[in-house]
Amino acid sequence: MQYLAAAHRYEAMQYRRCGRSGLKLPAISLGLWHNFGDATRVDNSRELLRHAFDRGITHFDLANNYGPPPGSAESNFGRILREDFSGYRDELIISSKAGYTMWDGPYGDWGSRKYLIASLDQSLKRMGLDYVDIFYHHRPDPETPLEETMRALDHVVRQGKALYVGLSNYPAERAAQAADILRELGTPCLIHQPKYSLFEQKPEQGLLSVLEEKGVGCIAFSPLAGGVLTDRYLTGIPTDSRAASGSQFLTSDTLTAEKMATVRKLNAIAEQRGQKLSQMALAWVLRNVTSVLIGASKTAQIDDAVAMLANTSFTDEELSQIADAVV
Ligand SMILES: NC(=O)c1ccc[n+]([C@@H]2O[C@H](COP(=O)([O-])OP(=O)(O)OC[C@H]3O[C@@H](n4cnc5c(N)ncnc54)[C@H](OP(=O)(O)O)[C@@H]3O)[C@@H](O)[C@H]2O)c1
Repeated sequence: MQYLAAAHRYEAMQYRRCGRSGLKLPAISLGLWHNFGDATRVDNSRELLRHAFDRGITHFDLANNYGPPPGSAESNFGRILREDFSGYRDELIISSKAGYTMWDGPYGDWGSRKYLIASLDQSLKRMGLDYVDIFYHHRPDPETPLEETMRALDHVVRQGKALYVGLSNYPAERAAQAADILRELGTPCLIHQPKYSLFEQKPEQGLLSVLEEKGVGCIAFSPLAGGVLTDRYLTGIPTDSRAASGSQFLTSDTLTAEKMATVRKLNAIAEQRGQKLSQMALAWVLRNVTSVLIGASKTAQIDDAVAMLANTSFTDEELSQIADAVV
């Protein structure tokens, strides 16, 4: 059936300025790392995208290698975009990235100008787009001069193939250097995408203050630790969960007795707040970032995230209980 976006889609969402740019991002963004490749049913992927947009989630995050197989999330997204969202392109922020292994040989990985420019061309073809809104360098490259990588980002903006650029997984000091180079080139860094959650608090040791100082926004990936910071695994490993899917990023070994004891403590704090654990985990990250970048396999998970926005503040007492629980 022809998709018509919900008329009230902008009412439930908050939009937050991204660093010192002109762009606002939704407090919740949707990532297509899982559940959009060829191994998933396209009708479920379509439903997730429609459901998210109907609730004001205007930002969809991709990368060249999302699948499996690599590239298939962009191809499937491109098809859904064409079939459902063609009338809404100017209401969407679509990002892609290059930085991890994408094709064979020395030019399909890391951070050379050769790789980044070719990869973005491929991503645009797969998605059927003339431009992405944000193009990221996906991870720092220890061998390529930072100037070369940043010049490639600047170049794609000048070519009109990306409106803004970002960095992902860069540690604080390298992010500061990269942001300085980009500013000198005249293409300020819009955003940084680090892994940040109750279980991954490293960005607080320097990165977040660098981003604040440089006027760069922040979007936190895996804010639910892939689903561990939810009620998903409280009573075992459901067969339809990421941990049961054979994902190398979330195996049953990750769910140790010690980790699950912490999850239970956090769950009790969330209950005291009248929230689900997933909601408390997102609200906790959102205190310090522009947007939380979630994944979802079901539309109800998107609803949980959006409902979180009704309760995003914490008392000092709650923050200290949370800090004690994750030690
Ligand atoms: N830049 C990078 O290097 C990088 C790396 C990783 C990810 N990312 C980006 O970040 C996005 C999000 O990553 P992520 O998927 O790891 O994020 P996440 O939000 O930490 O985990 C998402 C998973 O948690 C479970 N979940 C979500 N809401 C739930 C709820 N309310 N109740 C119970 N379970 C819930 C679902 O797992 P089930 O499948 O078990 O239902 C869902 O797929 C990616 O799609 C990608 O765009 C970027």
